[in-house]
Amino acid sequence: MQINGAHVLVTGANRGLGRQFILSLLDRGAGKVYATARRLDLIDVPGVIPLRLDITDPASVAAAAAAAPDVKIVINNAGISTGANLITGDLDTIRREMDTHFYGTLNVIRAFAPQLADGAILNVLSAISWLAFDGAGAYHAAKAAEWALTNSVRLELAGRRTLVTGLHLGAADTDMMAWYDGDKTAPEAIVAAALDGIEAHRPEVLADSWSRQVKAWLSEDPSVIYREAEAALTA
Ligand SMILES: NC(=O)c1ccc[n+]([C@@H]2O[C@H](COP(=O)([O-])OP(=O)(O)OC[C@H]3O[C@@H](n4cnc5c(N)ncnc54)[C@H](OP(=O)(O)O)[C@@H]3O)[C@@H](O)[C@H]2O)c1
Repeated sequence: MQINGAHVLVTGANRGLGRQFILSLLDRGAGKVYATARRLDLIDVPGVIPLRLDITDPASVAAAAAAAPDVKIVINNAGISTGANLITGDLDTIRREMDTHFYGTLNVIRAFAPQLADGAILNVLSAISWLAFDGAGAYHAAKAAEWALTNSVRLELAGRRTLVTGLHLGAADTDMMAWYDGDKTAPEAIVAAALDGIEAHRPEVLADSWSRQVKAWLSEDPSVIYREAEAALTA
């Protein structure tokens, strides 16, 4: 799978990791880069094809798929982080996390899958797909659902030779993590690992040391995982 010459669509491309995806795709010689966003006026990178797309709106997704019939790689990057917990959080906010990460990503995959034979889908997941945080209960559940979705569609699309890659990361230096004072990886490094993973045909990319650590904990009992995680985060 080569990025050079490929026609690629990125969701949530107006800022953060999505904006970095379109810059890095152009650097790697992508043939066409569809930079999608809820607001087109926020796309400020020359050389891309701006396209309006709200992944939670089925009509918007269908219109984007019709406008970009030559796409071979879809990067499902769009996401939100509301800070809602599951017990005390507002239910509509919890549903919005699920509508974005699970149903929104699924809307895009269902619309584009027919044209992705021998192509690729990259879903931007998180170490939080595997590790809950008090203060991010809804985000954790939604990212875990998106991880399960990633594994299921990989099986469902295997017959069409569509690569389905899950990208996991800890903290990246974007608006979403502006509140966080700990170590954050530069978006360039996260996106480079993701695009290298697509080119190497990998089903999973662990883009930083935190995502590798969290994955390594998964075989442990939850009592061990959460004790170790707290110790690591407060060290
Ligand atoms: N930053 C991190 O540390 C981190 C860690 C793990 C995983 N992630 C994941 O990485 C992805 C990108 O996050 P980021 O850090 O770049 O966040 P960000 O800077 O907050 O950007 C989020 C992007 O998603 C877009 N978006 C949100 N809802 C959308 C919708 N319904 N339809 C279309 N676009 C929508 C936003 O558009 P608007 O400008 O219109 O709001 C924005 O372009 C997300 O999936 C996030 O969960 C991030």
